[in-house]
Amino acid sequence: MSAAVSFQDQVVIVTGAGGGLGRAHALLFAKHGAKVVVNDLGGSTHGEGANASAADKVVEEIRAAGGTAIANHDSVTDGDKIVAHAIAEFGRIDVVVNNAGILRDKTFHKMEDADWDLVYKVHVEGAYKVTRAAWPYMREQGYGRVIFTASTSGIYGNFGQSNYGMAKLGLYGLTRTLAIEGRKNNIMVNAIAPTGGTRMTEGLIPPQVFEQLKPELVSPLVVYLASNACTDTSGLFEVGGGWIGKVRWERSLGAGFDPREGFSPEDVADHWQQICDFEGAAHPADNIEALKEMMANLQKYAI
Ligand SMILES: NC(=O)c1ccc[n+]([C@@H]2O[C@H](COP(=O)([O-])OP(=O)(O)OC[C@H]3O[C@@H](n4cnc5c(N)ncnc54)[C@H](O)[C@@H]3O)[C@@H](O)[C@H]2O)c1
Repeated sequence: MSAAVSFQDQVVIVTGAGGGLGRAHALLFAKHGAKVVVNDLGGSTHGEGANASAADKVVEEIRAAGGTAIANHDSVTDGDKIVAHAIAEFGRIDVVVNNAGILRDKTFHKMEDADWDLVYKVHVEGAYKVTRAAWPYMREQGYGRVIFTASTSGIYGNFGQSNYGMAKLGLYGLTRTLAIEGRKNNIMVNAIAPTGGTRMTEGLIPPQVFEQLKPELVSPLVVYLASNACTDTSGLFEVGGGWIGKVRWERSLGAGFDPREGFSPEDVADHWQQICDFEGAAHPADNIEALKEMMANLQKYAI
């Protein structure tokens, strides 16, 4: 059995923690000793309105159970205010869980700029703003954990979710680079693609399965990734219903052509099977590894 995961003397911000997955994360962090900043704007799933009671109720729940928490009602798009609130109240910031989110589902041909922009603003700009404000504190103290909330709709695509899929996989791109930049300061950055029965998925998932996909079944992974027990970084994990799996990029060994001669579209067609064949596929860990096959092809034909 691993050592107990503890957040003693640590401060955790969970955005969008007034309900759904964020609430479950916040409760579990508090149970493990964290001082929790429960952020939630309290608007609709569509991103309209605001209501302070969402975050306030979760703070009450945490305090009733003997935990420590404060409510914050700012939008994640004002992420610097959320971090400033955490610092003013608790004096430090150890963990950011970027969880706040909305939906504006529409097929692409009906997509309006407002739907595209708002989904980008909340998911991408919001996660950027909170994390950007927390980053200097994490660097300074040589410790930090950041979790981004991606989605299978970004990884695999989903009908009617071009805006959401763009935002969610964009967060994984952000995860990969922050993991590289944060490593030397002991800042570990990971992403999750959760599935849970929340107001966001109500009506989309059959009721019986919805009941079983409890948000609480996502939080143990988030809390582990956010703990000092986790030294893994740059990961993407699918999680839900009591199951967790890791996702990674896979690339075929590909086909090489003579770069001195150039090659034709017909050459591409002739090698299509080889280009798309995943037998013995590679899993490049970084940009340098990713470029190896290309460089080997240049070398092969070097005069
Ligand atoms: N439920 C799922 O199956 C599922 C699947 C994939 C990804 N996700 C992601 O998980 C996260 C949590 O979603 P959920 O299912 O718990 O939905 P939810 O609607 O219950 O929770 C989202 C919370 O974010 C808050 N929020 C929205 N905009 C905000 C803003 N600008 N500032 C601060 N708070 C804001 C909302 O008030 C809400 O409480 C989201 O990022 C969502 O995209 C959920």
